[in-house]
Amino acid sequence: MSHDLAPLYAQHIATLRTRADNALSLGGFDHLLIAASTPLRKFLDDQDYPFVSNPHFRHWLPLTDTPGSWVVYTPGEKPKLIFVQPRDYWHVVPAAPRGYWVEHFDITIVRTAAEAVAELPKGKRAVIAPNCPDIEGVEVNNPHAVTDYLHWHRSYKTAYELALMREASVIGTRAHHAAEKAFRAGESEFGIQMAYLAAARQTDAELPYSNIVCLNEHSAVLHYTHFDRLPPKQSRSFLIDAGGSAAGYASDITRTYAASGHSEFQALIDSVEKAQLGFVAKVKTGQSYPELHIHAHLVLANVLREHGVIRMSAESAVQSGVTSTFFPHGLGHPIGLQVHDVAGFQSSETGGSIPRPEGHPYLRMTRVLEPGMVVTIEPGLYFIDMLLEELRSKPESKDVDWSKVDAFRPYGGIRIEDDVVCTHGEPENLTRDAFAKLN
Ligand code: GLY
Ligand code: MN
Ligand code: MN
Repeated sequence: MSHDLAPLYAQHIATLRTRADNALSLGGFDHLLIAASTPLRKFLDDQDYPFVSNPHFRHWLPLTDTPGSWVVYTPGEKPKLIFVQPRDYWHVVPAAPRGYWVEHFDITIVRTAAEAVAELPKGKRAVIAPNCPDIEGVEVNNPHAVTDYLHWHRSYKTAYELALMREASVIGTRAHHAAEKAFRAGESEFGIQMAYLAAARQTDAELPYSNIVCLNEHSAVLHYTHFDRLPPKQSRSFLIDAGGSAAGYASDITRTYAASGHSEFQALIDSVEKAQLGFVAKVKTGQSYPELHIHAHLVLANVLREHGVIRMSAESAVQSGVTSTFFPHGLGHPIGLQVHDVAGFQSSETGGSIPRPEGHPYLRMTRVLEPGMVVTIEPGLYFIDMLLEELRSKPESKDVDWSKVDAFRPYGGIRIEDDVVCTHGEPENLTRDAFAKLN
């Protein structure tokens, strides 16, 4: 893997250098200083929360666990890495720099975060770091002119980034496969989670987000992360939303399964999957993402009609907000260094924001798709008591078949999610390609 990455990484660094040159020039800065970030200490404790590095740092380097280190970039000079390798016999310290990336940096090894700060150049500095906790001796400014430019361009993945995202998808699908097996064997949510982590060979903290592992009605809680320790009396349905990480890049994958014998719910899953594949096929240059989201509402309204849940026309189901009862989240979001990646609403490289369509408060992506962007496509249909109660009190309630709704409630809901690359031609489906490789 790392052997193949070397030439891609060289191109990636060249691209990042050009972007940094432009960003610094826009903001009038001499240096770009990017902190790996500092661990966050628990209140009244001597323990830290799991360390999550600054995504800007991970953009330059495949290093996810080097707190206190810095990337320093000055236009015209080779990038520098100020690498903190503490003298510490209590913890594992970051390994000495090695691998395909090393030759692209001038590396200075120091022993403490304070020594690293002392190595930073003076002058007009754009300092990209979280504001909390404070980094002693450094004024963090995260200048908008710089971050807006960098965030905008982060939407266009380099070949190196796409290679890592393919790897993150392979890890995620391998673990999904193990999770499905655990479900079929009657495991609890906790047992399924254990099977997932073992197959991913990643710890919970290394995953890009907390796994969502739901049996039965729990699938109606969009971000259910509870993990019941005991299996239910009967497992009817299984929704799993879980990813994997590769050098700081994320995959975000959801699958929904029916236990055998639950053919009506399986038929609904099949219809959502068919719809989802139709949306994936539309991940093409020039496609407005919010228009795709509205299109998804119309298609899902027809799915609800076909399965006898609603009786009104698809158009009126969308207009009256009935589809939002059953599909109450966005169609998807940008993904990359963060599972919900930056710049989903940005209108240009100098900032600005494209609003969401009215009535769709949870959509996380309002841009027009272009080659190099990676987005998730994750339609769903859910039977959520709270939202169904609201619908019951509306005039549209008369066009809902409540006995059908009640029949589907014990399954919770359905979501199917793939990570998809917009290219100059047909979309690249990272998730389905990775699932296909398993066989
Ligand atoms: N896993 C969170 C999401 O799908 O956006
Ligand atoms: Mn997800
Ligand atoms: Mn997602």
